[in-house]
Amino acid sequence: MNESKAAANAAAAGSKTATLTFNETGESWELPITDGAMGPSVVDVRRFYGDTGAFTYDPGFTSTASCSSAITFIDGEKGQLLHRGYSIEDLAGKSDFMEVCYLLLHGELPSAEQKNKFETAITYHSMLHEQMLYFFRGFRRDAHPMAVMVGAVGALSAFYHDSTDITDPHQRMVASHRLISKMPTIAAMAYKFSVGQPFIYPRNDLNYSENFLYMTFAVPAEEYKVNPVLARAMDRIFILHADHEQNASTSTVRIAGSSGANPFACIAAGIASLWGPAHGGANQAVLEMLQQIGSKDRVPEFLERAKDKNDPFRLMGFGHRVYKNYDPRASVLRESAHEVLDELGMRDEPLLELAMELERIALEDDYFVDRKLFPNVDFYSGIILKAMGFPSSMFTVLFALARTVGWVAQWKEMIEDPQQRISRPRQLYTGYGPRDYVPVDQRS
Ligand code: SDX
Repeated sequence: MNESKAAANAAAAGSKTATLTFNETGESWELPITDGAMGPSVVDVRRFYGDTGAFTYDPGFTSTASCSSAITFIDGEKGQLLHRGYSIEDLAGKSDFMEVCYLLLHGELPSAEQKNKFETAITYHSMLHEQMLYFFRGFRRDAHPMAVMVGAVGALSAFYHDSTDITDPHQRMVASHRLISKMPTIAAMAYKFSVGQPFIYPRNDLNYSENFLYMTFAVPAEEYKVNPVLARAMDRIFILHADHEQNASTSTVRIAGSSGANPFACIAAGIASLWGPAHGGANQAVLEMLQQIGSKDRVPEFLERAKDKNDPFRLMGFGHRVYKNYDPRASVLRESAHEVLDELGMRDEPLLELAMELERIALEDDYFVDRKLFPNVDFYSGIILKAMGFPSSMFTVLFALARTVGWVAQWKEMIEDPQQRISRPRQLYTGYGPRDYVPVDQRS
């Protein structure tokens, strides 16, 4: 959204208000309404507690705008996703991940010169401080790669002190470049450590996605040729996971950053939040679910379990807090799944067949249709990643790798927002009132 439009919106907001009346006392307040460039307007409640003495209540933030942002727009009813105004379909089909990173960080698509300069900066930050290798070697071999990634990214602040001053724009940009650039190296090292293979150093002659596949799957014993179809598919998967408005992990990064924590610590917090199976951990859970279902004839049984409130089983990869239509990213990933499996000669991959049958039946079932539960970004990604050779324990690591640019862009936008303050929500208290201390020998 350009600044003049924002200013126009802000000016117009003065003329729009909502009236709140406490029926018990008859007191009324006028609450300003602000329109966005697109999407729902907001009722400004920043003065609500000061004026009324009451809090608003919204656990899970289903009706709360936590910030203003110009990075990503989602229309859940339409199944629309825009990054700085460009549709995810256009970016996935016509752009590449480095260009999308520049767009998210700077707000505009880069010129050829700007893109080359950005890509060079990212390429030349891809190595890790050599001491980090000892950090990796401290983990058990069977450590979940997400545990390694949370630890390694948090540890970056112990190695790169010269880019932790969040008040310095240059240091903010250096930290942003370092995080985007080093995540593939950390992810590949987490994988190599888990399979007992030597770490493979990055190469400056490969592009971002090629380099990641090289560091992950090459071995010193023989030459590794990157498959261009798989590299393109990897790049597209990164684009599709790059940013997604104020989701749980992005909100975690923003809240951590609002206290002034260094960017490496903030991104480590985001990785930890993404790990949950209700969020980024769903891609690993989808594959495990498909393997648990095993065959098409068991699909009805598991759909019944997903509907049973007494059964904790949920259809992983289905449903979304915002999308009440098909997740546009899932549509692109479904096409990508066919492309990758064809390239690998796995056209009849049983898991893809099973996923498509599960999707077909679910989308005809009233329970899912009535609740507008459609496949989300995680439903097909695992099938592609498994076909490419990644173990399911690496799926969320790849999500975190791609989402780092979104977290960094949102963190940077927050730090540079003059309105930003430390995030400090309140609560509805439901505990005891004041009571006297009882010595232990007088307790029942
Ligand atoms: C991501 O926010 C983002 O943008 C996230 C993300 C991103 O890019 O950052 O898009 C990435 O996290 C995608 C979501 C991945 N998670 C999963 O696939 C896990 C399975 N999905 C569910 O856990 C659930 O759908 C959520 C967590 C995604 C959304 O939960 P909500 O919005 O809190 O929805 P809800 O729990 O209130 O469900 C509404 C109804 C309930 O039934 P009723 O009480 O109305 O009878 O739908 C049911 C739920 O029981 N329901 C499901 C279901 N998801 C919701 N029932 C069966 N299977 C499911 N998957």
